[in-house]
Amino acid sequence: MRYLSVFFLICVLYLREAASYNFPYESVQLTGADIGTNKDLTFGDPESITTSKASGVCKTYPEDASWPSDSRWVSFNESLGGALIQGVPTAAVCYQGWPGFDATRCATARTNWLNSAFFMEDPASIMEPWLQGDRCPLPSANSSLNVMSCSSAGVPAFVVNATTVKHVQLAVNFARNNNLRLTIKNSGHDFSGRSAGGGALSIWTHYLKAFEYLPSFSIGEYHGQAARVGAGLQTYDLSSYMRQYNITLITPGGNTVGAIGGYLQGGGHSGLTSYYGMMSDQVLSLEVVTADGKFLHVDMNENEDLWYAMRGGGGSTYGVLISAIIKAHSPISSASASINFSMPKLSENAFWEGIRVYHAHIVRLCDAKGFGFNYIRTAVGTGNSSRTYSFTTSISLPGMSRQEGTAFMAPLLSDLKLVGIASAASSVTTSSFATISPAAVMGDTIQTRHLSSRLFPRENFEDPTSDIFNRSVQAIKDSVVQGGYLFHSINHCPTLEAAGYPGTNSALVPAYRKAVMHASAYDEQPYDNVPPAQQVAYHSRLNEYMQKWRDVTPGSGSYMNEADVDEPDFQTSFYGSNYPKLLQIKKKRDPWRLFYATTGVGSEDWKLQGTDGLSTQDGKLCRV
Ligand SMILES: Cc1cc2nc3c(=O)[nH]c(=O)nc-3n(C[C@H](O)[C@H](O)[C@H](O)COP(=O)(O)OP(=O)(O)OC[C@H]3O[C@@H](n4cnc5c(N)ncnc54)[C@H](O)[C@@H]3O)c2cc1C
Ligand SMILES: *[C@@H]1O[C@H](CO)[C@@H](O)[C@H](O)[C@H]1NC(C)=O
Ligand SMILES: *[C@@H]1O[C@H](CO)[C@@H](O)[C@H](O)[C@H]1NC(C)=O
Ligand SMILES: *[C@@H]1O[C@H](CO)[C@@H](O)[C@H](O)[C@H]1NC(C)=O
Ligand SMILES: *[C@@H]1O[C@H](CO)[C@@H](O)[C@H](O)[C@H]1NC(C)=O
Ligand SMILES: *[C@@H]1O[C@H](CO)[C@@H](O)[C@H](O)[C@H]1NC(C)=O
Ligand SMILES: *[C@@H]1O[C@H](CO)[C@@H](O)[C@H](O)[C@H]1NC(C)=O
Ligand SMILES: *[C@@H]1O[C@H](CO)[C@@H](O)[C@H](O)[C@H]1NC(C)=O
Repeated sequence: MRYLSVFFLICVLYLREAASYNFPYESVQLTGADIGTNKDLTFGDPESITTSKASGVCKTYPEDASWPSDSRWVSFNESLGGALIQGVPTAAVCYQGWPGFDATRCATARTNWLNSAFFMEDPASIMEPWLQGDRCPLPSANSSLNVMSCSSAGVPAFVVNATTVKHVQLAVNFARNNNLRLTIKNSGHDFSGRSAGGGALSIWTHYLKAFEYLPSFSIGEYHGQAARVGAGLQTYDLSSYMRQYNITLITPGGNTVGAIGGYLQGGGHSGLTSYYGMMSDQVLSLEVVTADGKFLHVDMNENEDLWYAMRGGGGSTYGVLISAIIKAHSPISSASASINFSMPKLSENAFWEGIRVYHAHIVRLCDAKGFGFNYIRTAVGTGNSSRTYSFTTSISLPGMSRQEGTAFMAPLLSDLKLVGIASAASSVTTSSFATISPAAVMGDTIQTRHLSSRLFPRENFEDPTSDIFNRSVQAIKDSVVQGGYLFHSINHCPTLEAAGYPGTNSALVPAYRKAVMHASAYDEQPYDNVPPAQQVAYHSRLNEYMQKWRDVTPGSGSYMNEADVDEPDFQTSFYGSNYPKLLQIKKKRDPWRLFYATTGVGSEDWKLQGTDGLSTQDGKLCRV
């Protein structure tokens, strides 16, 4: 009887061990029986790496002799249960010579060309076509459709529509065993093209959509509400779960941005950043497929290197994230108000005085755990002198009542009045964090623009009479007035205190912990269908103005998820002092160099060839 109960206990423990994942789709895993003698599918052995690291050696591409034969692709598709999709450029349906020409689908593509909700359902294309090299542009209506001008070179050769862990393991093993470029696309929102890869095998995580609310969950020192989340969930999914379970979860601002993929792994800010820290600070555990094809549980006690690196150290680098457990918070409402003022109602001088006054309050905004979402827009006239500027901000103050919000706003409004800006603000209202309803999801508008960003530290804005304060405002002003760029900034502070346990010990770029402003400059020049030399010239001009921002923020950094794909010395900007440790983890966990993302950790060992010097993803990925 005693033996029997011991046996029973062992079985129970074994089952619990075997079930250490979040969702049923994770119980479907690759087994030895699936692999059999198929060398395409075997797991990776770090002891016997054969891929060459010699300079100039490239990943294998469709026209190469060593590209897997059609029959091996067919057999791979069978192993996947039919989940393999051929990569086709979105606009191909508009080209009469393509086998898939379809006037109705072409019309749909035209209508939705700037809508992220359309592209998130596209297995092969990301949202900013210029980062795929514009290899298959949308032909203008009624133009003569020349089939030669649509090429697949910008999209993956094949896509695995992953709905189980086994699908991901098969893709990882097939790509690694055949030296293919491997990419991961979730929502395809990435501003740097990190989810794109011409000629690659792509893993599409969009349909890893499960969710489970955990009213009381304990791990390490955390005891509280939590949620199991699948890697494919997006803002609108989490918003609806927030309402269903009466909880708060951290999400991106855009309706269709993936909340668990690149957003979580690169940091992830929200309207609650000063209150609860970044999305990477919410993580309590992760389930991951690593470069060897194995499925691992990752938390503060297990696989601690990945635990550190995958919370802020960037996506598509250390493994494929399958699901996570994240903190859930009580429902929270915020007091909010908006302010706007503009020329020509104001003189140019009064306008820039108003900008100074606003920035004199951003440290106070952070200390109140608040959030400011700002734009300085330029209305273009002819030449510099006839241009006008407008400023808008939406301020939100989580946890504050209407009355507290009004009291917070008062000193800012009275300071604005002192410089001649009166009645610029809306009245204070309160609202819940989960405002996006699935029925309302129209997608975010896609912007095919180059941007660049910088984290401005607290000390720059602490004293409005200081030289550094003046120089910071001047650097912003120069980028708008001389540069002509759209200025967008977010005032928030994911301090270590806001992050709390276990966020404090993570790979988020250290500069973010000290910042009170994440500022971006957008080049309003379109980069679509613009000759390479012109794109290079646009960027070098943008970079001149960014250098002014860097000059006033020495030692700070930049938020990798909303940043310049051509950021100089990206290692320091995006990772800071974490870089050496992250590179070590990358090399240990992925000695095959299977995962690659431009500006990712270790990406300096690779260069795209055949892209006319641009950071587009349509060329061949080769060793430097
Ligand atoms: C309209 C809009 C609004 C935005 N709002 C915000 C915001 O409020 N706050 C904020 O912080 N950022 C915001 N962003 C930026 C956002 O963080 C990035 O675009 C981010 O890359 C989105 O991640 P994704 O997984 O949705 O995108 P994708 O482009 O699909 O992926 C981004 C990167 O992550 C990798 N990746 C994705 N899933 C996985 C996975 N499961 N495992 C491993 N790697 C993976 C991809 O390979 C790629 O390198 C916004 C962007 C846009 C376009
Ligand atoms: C994979 O198999 C499925 C089911 O048989 C099929 O519909 C699909 O077209 C195949 N994919 C490719 C790339 O051939
Ligand atoms: C394109 O053709 C359609 C129908 O043939 C016509 O209605 C439309 O005006 C044309 N558009 C342009 C821009 O010429
Ligand atoms: C991907 O898989 C999902 C879930 O099985 C399915 O609904 C969807 O149609 C597939 N998409 C494509 C393009 O095959
Ligand atoms: C939601 O939760 C809050 C506190 O956590 C509670 O006060 C409120 O009554 C709940 N609302 C509903 C509809 O359950
Ligand atoms: C600017 O503020 C005024 C007054 O609150 C408001 O009526 C107006 O709609 C606002 N404009 C914009 C563009 O936000
Ligand atoms: C900063 O600018 C303000 C207003 O333009 C000025 O009064 C102040 O003296 C300047 N401070 C320094 C240190 O230059
Ligand atoms: C504005 O003027 C400055 C200095 O005269 C010049 O360097 C800059 O290029 C001009 N900007 C635009 C957008 O015309």
